[in-house]
Amino acid sequence: MKVMLQITNLVKSFPQPEGGSIKVLDVPNLQVNEGEHVALIGQSGGGKTTLLHLIAGLLTPDEGSIQINGIELTKLSEQGRDRFRAGTIGYVFQTFNLLPAFTALENVRLGMTFGSGVAESERAIDLLERVGLGDRAHYRPRQLSVGQQQRVAIARAMAGKPRILLADEPTANVDPKSAETVLELIRETCAEEKVAILMVTHDLQIASQFERVDQLDEINQAVERSR
Ligand SMILES: Nc1ncnc2c1ncn2[C@@H]1O[C@H](COP(=O)(O)OP(=O)(O)O)[C@@H](O)[C@H]1O
Ligand SMILES: [Mg+2]
Repeated sequence: MKVMLQITNLVKSFPQPEGGSIKVLDVPNLQVNEGEHVALIGQSGGGKTTLLHLIAGLLTPDEGSIQINGIELTKLSEQGRDRFRAGTIGYVFQTFNLLPAFTALENVRLGMTFGSGVAESERAIDLLERVGLGDRAHYRPRQLSVGQQQRVAIARAMAGKPRILLADEPTANVDPKSAETVLELIRETCAEEKVAILMVTHDLQIASQFERVDQLDEINQAVERSR
């Protein structure tokens, strides 16, 4: 089995407003295999978003190694990380982060790095159809329900043909019924293209639908039990 994500001795601290710094993450080992679906459950403030930002190369660690698809992320330049992210990583945000001035289709196209070719157009339309929004391609985000907006965001995350999808509490801001659909669509579209998933959540019921559930508290040695 090929390893898609390998984290080793990853440490991240943040400076405190009152001076000094607080260690948020100290993760000796976290591995996700190619095509594997992993839910990582953790309390609020536990470092879930920070971990995903590190893996996406949006933040840099103090120490440690992050290998994705065999590439050491911490050795890349900022520009190199941006390029790598575009080609390898899909990201689904808690609050969707769609651009309001653009249609659903245009938002999905923005998830693609190169060109405005016919193949890209076809893939964007195909992805919208797969998330059940083929007839909403020309709607703007405000003309869509929140559940539909998150489905557009899933299509956008898949647009660049990622090898791993990072999802940050993707169901936290949608109603319970849409949450089921959102979760199903993430798992289905990723399974179809053998994309690995690392989803973080504080919701045990959401997490337990995944084939593998890890506890952030157990893999993170920076956890403060007193918090
Ligand atoms: N840019 C930052 N500067 C200082 N502290 C931060 C920053 N980002 C996050 N933190 C702190 O790191 C901890 C973990 O935050 P976060 O990763 O957002 O947790 P979660 O997503 O699990 O709720 C929190 O205590 C938060 O206050
Ligand atoms: Mg968070």
